[in-house]
Amino acid sequence: MTSALIYSRITGTGSYLPTNKLSNADLATLLAKDGIETSDEWIVERTGIRNRHFAAADQSASDLALPACVSALQAAGKVAGDVDLIICATSTPDMVFPSTAAILQHKLGQFYEQKSTIDGMESAQNATKSIADKSIAGCPAFDVQAVCSGFVYALTVADAMIKTGAAKCALVVGTEVFSRILDFKDRTTCVLFGDGAGAVVLEASSEPGLLASELHADGKHVGVLCTPGTVSGGQILGDPTLKMDGQAVFKLAVGVLADVARSVLAKAGKTEADIDWLIPHQANIRIMLGTAKKLKLPESKVIVTVADHGNTSAASIPLALDHGVRSGQIKKGETLMLEGVGGGFTWGAVLLEL
Ligand code: UT7
Repeated sequence: MTSALIYSRITGTGSYLPTNKLSNADLATLLAKDGIETSDEWIVERTGIRNRHFAAADQSASDLALPACVSALQAAGKVAGDVDLIICATSTPDMVFPSTAAILQHKLGQFYEQKSTIDGMESAQNATKSIADKSIAGCPAFDVQAVCSGFVYALTVADAMIKTGAAKCALVVGTEVFSRILDFKDRTTCVLFGDGAGAVVLEASSEPGLLASELHADGKHVGVLCTPGTVSGGQILGDPTLKMDGQAVFKLAVGVLADVARSVLAKAGKTEADIDWLIPHQANIRIMLGTAKKLKLPESKVIVTVADHGNTSAASIPLALDHGVRSGQIKKGETLMLEGVGGGFTWGAVLLEL
């Protein structure tokens, strides 16, 4: 008799950063052309960011998500046809509609059907391994919008769907092209963000898996971090670039991150000492290490990738997770605390065993 599949478990991770990499010095030179002053020293000292990657003009959020998903599928030993759910966390979708997840589903289908190569990965190799005769077309696919908490939200929704039996093999992806919504005349925001994508394959399992999670939002803080412009009748109304009161976001973030982590630990019957790795949203090294300190975790237990890609919003947690796994830092069986915070104001955390 087979045991019931009541848990969800990450079986593969992947990520992608666009090839166009800008150092702080590169960005400072670019901004100086418009008389805007910034420096490598200021950015590193205040944020820990050293580089960011910007998508090419013809690359959209779904284009960045595609190689991240293929990489995660390869790691899980799966192909597109095995996937029965796609949830995409993004605040910079390809279109107002349809969802980036639906567009990604089609691109994944095409990639595997045409047995093509992307970013050095061949779909043909994988296609022979698994259930290649099934199509990804038809599976549910939708976006989740919770800004920088988006991946934690998406993972929690996918976990719930797997636990109800609605899905067995989900692709959960965070993908962003924040370079498209930056105001390059505002040095307080444009130096902070970058583009990228990260993905996981989440499968039904008889063993945990995701142990506990918690999500929050408080809409009264909408003004501290927003992109207020809207599209109406084919016209952009208002300002479509990102606005942030950095200090207000900083204070809100520091206030909630340790609390939500503790609450999730309590739900799972665990303590801070059980955390092998803290994988926070990669926005500012000071917030990340401040949270670790509150949780009595040494810096050596925090996965830090913010230096290499800046704040990639919903993509930052799966990017850091994939880096941790592929670099050999994170090992199978270890306990991970993922936590995000961002516009909305939203925040949340997921505790899982890899
Ligand atoms: O993804 C969602 C989560 N988002 C975050 O977590 C962001 C949270 N906030 C932060 O990370 C920080 O508040 C920032 C990195 C945005 C700013 O750091 P800060 O230590 O709070 O700096 P500040 O805003 O107090 O600015 C200090 C000074 C100001 O000059 P004065 O008024 O002291 O003369 C700014 O004008 O730094 C100046 N400044 C800059 N200088 C050089 C602001 N931006 C820059 C810049 N280069 N890019």
